[in-house]
Amino acid sequence: MRKQIAAANWKMNLTLGQAEKLLDNLLAIDWTPNTHQEVVLAVPAPYLVPAVSRVKSSGRTHFHISSQNAYSEVSGAYTGETSAQMLQSLGVTHVILGHSERREYFGETDAVLAKKVDMALVHDLIPIFCCGEPLSIREAGTQNAFVAKQIEHSLFHLDESQIKKVVIAYEPIWAIGTGKTATAGQAQEMHAFLRSVFAKKYGATVADHLPILYGGSVKAANAQEIFACPDVDGGLVGGASLVAGEFEAIIRALK
Ligand code: PGA
Repeated sequence: MRKQIAAANWKMNLTLGQAEKLLDNLLAIDWTPNTHQEVVLAVPAPYLVPAVSRVKSSGRTHFHISSQNAYSEVSGAYTGETSAQMLQSLGVTHVILGHSERREYFGETDAVLAKKVDMALVHDLIPIFCCGEPLSIREAGTQNAFVAKQIEHSLFHLDESQIKKVVIAYEPIWAIGTGKTATAGQAQEMHAFLRSVFAKKYGATVADHLPILYGGSVKAANAQEIFACPDVDGGLVGGASLVAGEFEAIIRALK
């Protein structure tokens, strides 16, 4: 079975004390994962070190710590940035790249993201690559072409062995933080389309193994219905991941 992932994106939220408490609550959940299920927590950068250490000492091997971003260069005079190499040296295993908030507020382009993906892979980080269309594109009915372009421009330079390491997150921008979720039908339709885009480029076997997460107002109340879609392999969750009980239910909704 394909990997099924419950990924939390804490964004720029929580104090250290609140973050430690939330993490401890999640690590204490009485949950026995199947081998194909995992939890990824993308915590704010200052909390990466304590988060990695808490997960390690908990012995919960299905929990992984992710960064929310990484820079496209190895090291040097880039004040305020964090490199993939630094993250790797901390024991961080994943990195979210191309979140719509990074694209919108920090001007990240498809070309910059292609470089960031390369840098992440060089340092053995699993990129959680985000794509998704704004409302105007959805209303015009051109979302498939829009999202396919994001994928082609930032990922299609990768070879087969590299693409196999990537996780995709489809996050329609109109559903992020709005409480307005895509319907299960809309999610399945886009995920199946994305898989066909990868199949055309890399073949059906590679596409079949690629985890494609849905993101955008996932919560305890809708996770099960969305995750049940055959091409949805879990979720990337913002708001609801800040509440232990909500995120626990989302973890339990994994196939
Ligand atoms: P949301 O955020 O769950 O709060 O909509 C999802 C995301 O931005 O990853």
